[in-house]
Amino acid sequence: MTSIGLDVGTGFVKCVSDIAVTRFPSLYAYRQPSSWEDRKGLVEAVGYEAANLARHPDAVLIRPVMLGRPINERAFGELARKAIGDVIPKKGAVGEPSNLNLDIAVGLPYDARGERQSVRRLISRLYETNSCNVGLQVLGTLVDVDLKDALVVSLGHGTTEIVAFQNRVPVKGVSVHNAASDVCERLGVSKISYLDSNIFCTAKARQYVTMLVDAIMDDLNSISKDLSELPVIVSGGGILIPHVKETIESHLGREIIMPQDPVMSNANGLYKLASLAC
Ligand SMILES: Nc1ncnc2c1ncn2[C@@H]1O[C@H](COP(=O)(O)OP(=O)(O)OP(=O)(O)O)[C@@H](O)[C@H]1O
Ligand SMILES: [Mg+2]
Repeated sequence: MTSIGLDVGTGFVKCVSDIAVTRFPSLYAYRQPSSWEDRKGLVEAVGYEAANLARHPDAVLIRPVMLGRPINERAFGELARKAIGDVIPKKGAVGEPSNLNLDIAVGLPYDARGERQSVRRLISRLYETNSCNVGLQVLGTLVDVDLKDALVVSLGHGTTEIVAFQNRVPVKGVSVHNAASDVCERLGVSKISYLDSNIFCTAKARQYVTMLVDAIMDDLNSISKDLSELPVIVSGGGILIPHVKETIESHLGREIIMPQDPVMSNANGLYKLASLAC
């Protein structure tokens, strides 16, 4: 039996199992072989290899996740196939998956409840699963930090999830369409420049970080209005952008909790939830 936590984000796929961890860009690319190539069929690539393939003049680059939801089923399926394939035991010289008795917990944004069935179906078509639960992504962060009551903020590449939990039950929440990609867009960098987080280390970026936090604070204040006793946990790669943490803390007037690995936090907690399903 293998337990797996899967977080397919707008920017990066994160996946954790009993034996391995993987993280790669949410990118899929393909091209037709040229007439002088011996190979037949599409040349396809996922993750960092897709970013490389995209340099080929004939390649098509697809970002299969938008605002944390699948927008291209086939390409999303390839991200999930690689993520799960990376973290399950292999057998033989060609490394075929050897253990298909999988318990998988997958996370979706707060406002993507309607996608649960289609994501479950898609994963079940790729791998034989014992259980496949598709739930709230940020519940992963809550479980990762071992709390039951908290206001969880996950500042990702495409959305910022803000959800208040009481006894692990989501009582209020919102998916805000302001996230790290706002800063990239304002910086005018290419679609995949976010792969190098150094792009956020400039004076211009600092100015755009202030604008991003200002945009998020409105929803954060309204969700936390009657719940000021709850600790605030912030996960997601966005919290690692220079000055984001301090700016949020100065707006809130109190310290926030950051998980040990904010980028992997949702996937780590989803993995713990999947382990409980065994
Ligand atoms: N040190 C860092 N490590 C990882 N990501 C970082 C870091 N600094 C900034 N980032 C940025 O965080 C974003 C990725 O965060 P994350 O993986 O949490 O997003 P996501 O889960 O893919 O998106 P979403 O949750 O919105 O669907 C990228 O824009 C990335 O450049
Ligand atoms: Mg995310």
